Order: sequence, then structure tokens, then C-alpha cells
Amino acid sequence: MTDTLETFIRGLPKAELHLHIEGSLEPEQMFEFGKRNRVDMPFQSVEEVRAAYAFSNLQDFLDIYYQGAGVLQTEQDFNDMAMAYFRRLHADGGVHAELFFDPQTHTDRGLPFSIAVEGLLSGMKAAEAEMGITSGLIMCFLRHLDEEAALATLKAAEPWLDRVVGVGLDSSEVGHPPSKFQKVFRAAKERGLRLCAHAGEEGPPEYVWEALDLLKVDRIDHGNRALEDEALVKRLVASEMTLTVCPLSNLKLCVVDDLKDHPMKRMLDLGLKATCNADDPAYFGGYIGENFIQTARALDLSREELVTLARNSFTGSFLDEERVARRLAEIDAYVD
Ligand code: HPA
Ligand code: ZN
Repeated sequence: MTDTLETFIRGLPKAELHLHIEGSLEPEQMFEFGKRNRVDMPFQSVEEVRAAYAFSNLQDFLDIYYQGAGVLQTEQDFNDMAMAYFRRLHADGGVHAELFFDPQTHTDRGLPFSIAVEGLLSGMKAAEAEMGITSGLIMCFLRHLDEEAALATLKAAEPWLDRVVGVGLDSSEVGHPPSKFQKVFRAAKERGLRLCAHAGEEGPPEYVWEALDLLKVDRIDHGNRALEDEALVKRLVASEMTLTVCPLSNLKLCVVDDLKDHPMKRMLDLGLKATCNADDPAYFGGYIGENFIQTARALDLSREELVTLARNSFTGSFLDEERVARRLAEIDAYVD
């Protein structure tokens, strides 16, 4: 039974909509890049790195995550990191991904804007050629920094905006509400970009309202705490708003104490358009397949519910209608 569940999940065509590419940097690759770039590492061994991955909240994780990103120095590093991720995605039945990256994490330590974006774009192109995986790039603004910095980032991205599908908002949530970023989100929309924002991971339901009403997002990343507000749930259901939910991340960052208490099933029961994603798989103990499998086991999700999650990942993606329809047909063919 367990094996059939795993096999069913890994074969199910799916898209990943909530993946920070810097969070896919495995400790082994961190050491490899650190060595080849002669960057001093705060850790002596892979084991020591893994041992440091015990977090009690989002900030605990972010402190280590920004440190880890320091080994990324060249386009080749970003390309290699992306390719390693796409190979894992491919093994998990992933056929499309919309990758978050944090330009400010790199420009603030002196890397030119082009390094991260060109390296990632070349990895994305290679993944499509090699594995048939399509992908899009979403540029996130760091919310612990001010809106002026976000506006400057959007400006620096100008030469690449035709190859970026959208913008996002990530980093430390509490104390940095979406309302802080209205101007830059409006400017991004005017440039034809799609919009998403992390909201309701640690922050209150009000932040989800703000992301909807003030930023006018197309997707909510996480959204767990929306469940505390009945009117908000109604609004999210009525508008068919996609939530990019990340179960293993929620467990590792203590958003839930046990996967058995994870709201994924409740979300589906309420009619919310939830998807299942990895967030930062190198840090949280599993890629998308493992997120599906562990959540399915903990919550006893049915095959129908797993198929709903997979369908939502395409209908909630930024792919055009024709491509969405093609992917949905692949799911239908698989289920038959
Ligand atoms: N939340 C907020 N910011 C992030 C995350 C997350 O889970 N991962 C990387 N940046
Ligand atoms: Zn995230």
C-alpha cells in the first residue's frame, strides 16, 4: 500500500509553485561551491551543516539560509544549483516549476544583478532541453528591507523583465506587512508581471487581506493563518485564489507541531485551492515528492485529493491556458 502510494505520487504530473532556488542548495553543493570559489565557510563539514538545521521559527532559518547563499559567486554556481533542483523535481514527477530567487541577497553582498539571473536562466533552459521541464522565474523582494530597496531592485531587473514571470515577497514576515510594498507591486503589475506574496505563514490573517486588497496578488504563498478568519476563507474560496502550501517547511519552522495537525486536508475540505510545495527543500528535509508523500500519509489523503493538488498546481500556475490544458490532460491520462 505504502509503495503504491509513493509510486502513484511520483508518477503524478505536477508543478512546483513555491520553491526558493537558494533553498535547494544542499550542504554537499555548498561545500563544493565554497571550495571552488575560496569562500570561507562557517561550518567544517556537511554533518555540521545538517546539525545546524534545527529551527524554532522562520527567523532562525533565515539567518542560516542567507549565510549559506554566500557561497554562490558565479553564473555557473546558479546554473548548477538550478540543474540539481530540476533533476530532483524530474525524479518526483515534476514537469513545471516557478522558481523564487532573492536578488537582494546577492546584490547586497556585491554580486552584479546579472550573475544570479543569467545563471538561473541558463539552468532553466538546459532543464527544458534535457528533461522537458518548463519553468518561470519569480523575483522576490526581501520584506525586512524597505520599499526603496525593492524599487531599486525592480529597476535593476529592467533588462531581464521579459524573462521574469513575476515578483514575490519573502523573508521575515511579522512586522513587515504587505502594505509596506504597495508602490513596488503596482509598478511590477504595470510592467506586466504576475504577483505573489508570502502571507499568513507566521503573520496574521490581516496580512493575507492586505496581500489581496493592497498588493492585488495572483497567488498567496503559504496562507495557513487564513484559516483563523472565516470571512477570509470565504473570500479565498470565492475568488479561487491559489495557496502555495508547504507542509514540511511548516513542520520544520514550527508553524505546525505535527504533520498530523497540518491544515492541508482542512483547506481542501473547505474548497480552498491549495497546492503542495517544498519551499526550501535542502533545509526542510524533502523535495516536492516527499512533501506529497508525508502529507498524504499523515492526513490520509485520498488519490482524488492528491490529483486535486496536482491539478491546482497547473491551474494556479502562470502558464498560458493552452499549456495548462495540456498538463491537465496529462494528469487525466495518468489517472486513467
Ligand atoms: N518564508 C519567508 N521567506 C523565505 C522562506 C520562507 O519560507 N524561504 C526563503 N525565504
Ligand atoms: Zn517560501
